[in-house]
Amino acid sequence: MKNLIERINLLKKQKKAIILAHSYQNVEIDKVADFVGDSLYLSQKAKETSAEIIVFAGVYFMAQTAKIISPEKKVLLPNLNAGCLMADMINHEQMKSFKKKYPNLPTVCYINSTAEVKAECDICCTSSNAVEIVKSLNAPKVLFVPDANLGKHVEAQLNNVEVITYQGCCPVHDNVTIQNILDTKSKHPNAKVLIHPECKPKVSQLGDYIGSTSGIINYVKNSSEKEFIIVTEKGVVDRLKRDFPQKEFILISEKMLCESMKLTSLEQILYALENEVNEITIDEKTRQLSAGCIERMLKVSQ
Ligand code: 13P
Ligand code: SF4
Repeated sequence: MKNLIERINLLKKQKKAIILAHSYQNVEIDKVADFVGDSLYLSQKAKETSAEIIVFAGVYFMAQTAKIISPEKKVLLPNLNAGCLMADMINHEQMKSFKKKYPNLPTVCYINSTAEVKAECDICCTSSNAVEIVKSLNAPKVLFVPDANLGKHVEAQLNNVEVITYQGCCPVHDNVTIQNILDTKSKHPNAKVLIHPECKPKVSQLGDYIGSTSGIINYVKNSSEKEFIIVTEKGVVDRLKRDFPQKEFILISEKMLCESMKLTSLEQILYALENEVNEITIDEKTRQLSAGCIERMLKVSQ
């Protein structure tokens, strides 16, 4: 593995490349990553970087977002099969029909969506800024796609905004039940419960904290507590165990695994970077239309 890491690091220097890695990736990816974090943080880094190549260790919509906002850079996704089940739940036609059903409303899309869907929306958001983004619209009613759970979480935080949601979800998070939380809490009564807002709102309400993957990691970092029940994908727990060995972390269920996020390996990163393959391309019209929606988000969340 050492040799693999050295080769990737050397290529990064030679080719002016950076590697962005999401917190759900296999932990060994962090050994070559320049930045590791949630989807907002990674999109900000993709925008700011002066690198010529971005290798995205994440899923398709993340690499596509990087390409949309940094079109002059080469963006590589080491494993092109790394999709997102939620992003696949709404296509361009379905998006247009949804807008037709509720005309003339501001439309917010979760970053977990395709470029074609983003192109139809006014502004984008991530799990860490969804409340702030919807609030920034100053509208009594908004459309929200594709994640119904995140949309309803936002509505619960803002008591004067109606959020009309599309029926999409992340199956990994949506499967968590109230009973899962109660059972785990009964075994670990002193543990703080940290939940990702892709879970059902009635589940999220049981959390001591609801936030993005980076939000959960930062909560642990700033907390004097010793025990935490983590209600998001396993990669976050793997990183927490590595970074805070004196604390205890309980993953809510062994089913909290995003298979797509685990597809990327160091070998694939090396291959993609060495051969400059698996490049993300996007037609210019769609790119321009979807860029507006992401740029507006980045302006609100600087
Ligand atoms: P974050 O925005 O918290 O990184 O979440 C992205 C994601 O896909 C969660 O399932
Ligand atoms: Fe998509 Fe769910 Fe995987 Fe996140 S965890 S990338 S929402 S499938």
